[in-house]
Formats: sequence, structure tokens, C-alpha cells
Amino acid sequence: MNKKVGVKILSTGSFVPKKVLTNFDLEKMVETSDEWISERTGIKERRILDKNQTTSDLAYNAAIKAIDRANITVDDIDMIIVATISPDVPMPSTACYLQKKLKAYNAVAFDISAACSGFIYGVTTAKAFIESGMYKRVLLVGVEALSRIIDWTDRNTCVLFGDGAGAMIFEASDTENDIISTYLGTNGDHTEILNIPAGGANNPTSEETVKQKLHCLKMIGKEVFKISVLKMSLSVTKAQELVGLTDKDIDLYIPHQANLRIIEAVAKKAGIAREKVYINVHKYGNMSAATTIVALDEAYQEGRVKKGNLVELVAFGAGLTWGACILKINF
Ligand code: UT7
Repeated sequence: MNKKVGVKILSTGSFVPKKVLTNFDLEKMVETSDEWISERTGIKERRILDKNQTTSDLAYNAAIKAIDRANITVDDIDMIIVATISPDVPMPSTACYLQKKLKAYNAVAFDISAACSGFIYGVTTAKAFIESGMYKRVLLVGVEALSRIIDWTDRNTCVLFGDGAGAMIFEASDTENDIISTYLGTNGDHTEILNIPAGGANNPTSEETVKQKLHCLKMIGKEVFKISVLKMSLSVTKAQELVGLTDKDIDLYIPHQANLRIIEAVAKKAGIAREKVYINVHKYGNMSAATTIVALDEAYQEGRVKKGNLVELVAFGAGLTWGACILKINF
């Protein structure tokens, strides 16, 4: 019988653009205030990519750091997965642009679309491909250039989002397994509460869709908030129960960074101590598929997580999609 293949995590990397947009900058753009944004979301500033940068550039910068730290070459990578809802173009995938920029021509490359849960869906996808024995070394990137799909005149959304990228490299292993658990959920009944209404086959781009800014992200924030708290707290517990772990086993929780109030409500509902929750939403806002991996990379670089620690990532996003994964830090 074939020996079971485990998945080792080799490294992480992240990259955020230099340009900072503060709440005070936003006060000059829409009718809002630093006080409202800080109180309702916890966000103080976010990063915005340069005019001459695109999604795959952010992805490249995060990927290169992870590749260097993993001590491998681009030729060692046989699969590239990019999780994003703000691709370079609708077709082909951002993963193809990233493959070209990295010159990682031994890799097959594709995008996955699971919005803010994209990175956790990506971890699960990488795990499945490696465990099946089909691929050996996977580069996963969560990346967003959300500033390109935001309506900068809509105060309901433009204060919430930012740009950034994070990367992780996985390798097949006979002796180790660092992806301890993953749990995913989807419910397509609520597609309308968080979406980009136009620009696809259902509502192709026209003068009218552009005039109405239907190519931009729309959200009914209150609805998303409520379901997000329920599904993220459920995911935290489900990922633990699947492998017989409890809160005591988890050293650090890294929740999706959309809103400090959501993070606090999830922690309360799931019975998690605040000291065990990593927070960087004040610096970056909601970077969708990039949030959890940027936060994990920062926590690692800061020494907040150490070798041997168990970290639980949990997220929720458009779809609706949600999920959690428990990772062993062993690099
Ligand atoms: O990653 C997954 C996707 N996103 C999320 O998880 C985000 C989920 N939702 C949220 O974070 C929150 O619902 C928001 C931050 C979007 C909104 O907070 P809220 O406490 O749910 O506020 P609200 O929507 O009930 O709005 C309250 C008021 C409204 O005014 P009226 O109708 O009460 O007069 C809004 O028009 O605040 C107003 N408002 C603002 N005021 C100043 C909305 N946006 C702003 C703003 N500045 N930027």
C-alpha cells in the first residue's frame, strides 16, 4: 500500500503597497469621518497600489519572499494557485500572469474565486492536490487590488477595503503534516448581499452598467456582518472538532480582518481569549483573500508565532463562503 503523503509548509511571505490612505484622506473624498470609521470598523488606514502596479505584481512580490525563505527555486514549483476577486483581467487567470513574472514554467497555474475565504479554500485545494500525489510543491497566493473595483464615491464600501498579497509554499512529505485540519462552507442563497453585479455574462458591461458603477463591489453591510459572525464562530469550532482539538490546543487565531467588531463578536461567540487573536485590520482594512495570510506572515515575522505552534485561520466572504484551517508552524 502507498504511504500517506503529508503536507509540509515551507514558508510564508507578504507584500503591501507603499501608499497609505488614511481615514483623514477619506474625509476629503466622501462624507465620512475618522471617528465613524474607527468606531464602526477599527480601520485607521489601508494600502493602495500604484497606478503602474497590478494584482500579479503584488502577488509576485509576496511570492518571491516566500520562495527565498523556502530555499527553493521557481523551477521546483509544480503548481501555482492564486485566490483573488480582483484579477489583472477577467481572462486569463492572474496565476498565468504570476507564472510568467516568476518564470515558473514547470508549474500549472489557475485562480480560485472564493472571495474573502479564498486563502482557506486555497490551503484546502493545495492539500488535496499534494495528498493525492499529483503535485509536489504548491505556491498559494492570496492577493487583492480591491482599490481597482471599489466605487470611490460610495462611503458604505470605500472606507473598508485595501490592497495586499500573501503567499505560502507547501511541499509533499513522507514524515510531516502541517495542515492539521480544514473546514469549508458555502451557501449560494445570499449572492446578492455582497457582489459585483455587472461585467459578467449575466449583466455584460455596457454604458449603462458603467454609469451605474455596477462593475464595482456592492455590499449590504449589516446582513454580511450578522452571517459573518455566525459562520466564522461555527468554522472555528468545526475545524477543531474534525480532528479532536479544542481551544486549549490553539496558540493563535487569525481571523479575516474585515471589521474589528466582527472579530470581537466571533471571539466572544467562540469563547476565545482576546490575547489569542491576531489583529492588523487597523493598518490594512479588508484585503479579502490576502487578509489571513498577510496577518500570518506578519505574526511570524514579529515572533508572535513560533515553531511548533498551532495557528487557526478563519474567514468569511462573498458567495457566501466561509471556512477555517489549523496549521502547524514548523518552518
Ligand atoms: O469580508 C466580508 C465582507 N465584509 C464584511 O464583513 C463587512 C461587514 N459589515 C460591516 O463591517 C458593517 O456592517 C459596516 C462597517 C459596513 C457598517 O457598519 P454598521 O454598524 O452595520 O452601519 P450601518 O450600515 O447600519 O450604517 C449606519 C449609518 C447609516 O446611516 P443612517 O442610515 O443610519 O442614517 C449609513 O449611511 O452609518 C452611515 N454610514 C456612514 N457614515 C459615515 C455608512 N458608511 C459610512 C461612512 N461614514 N463611511
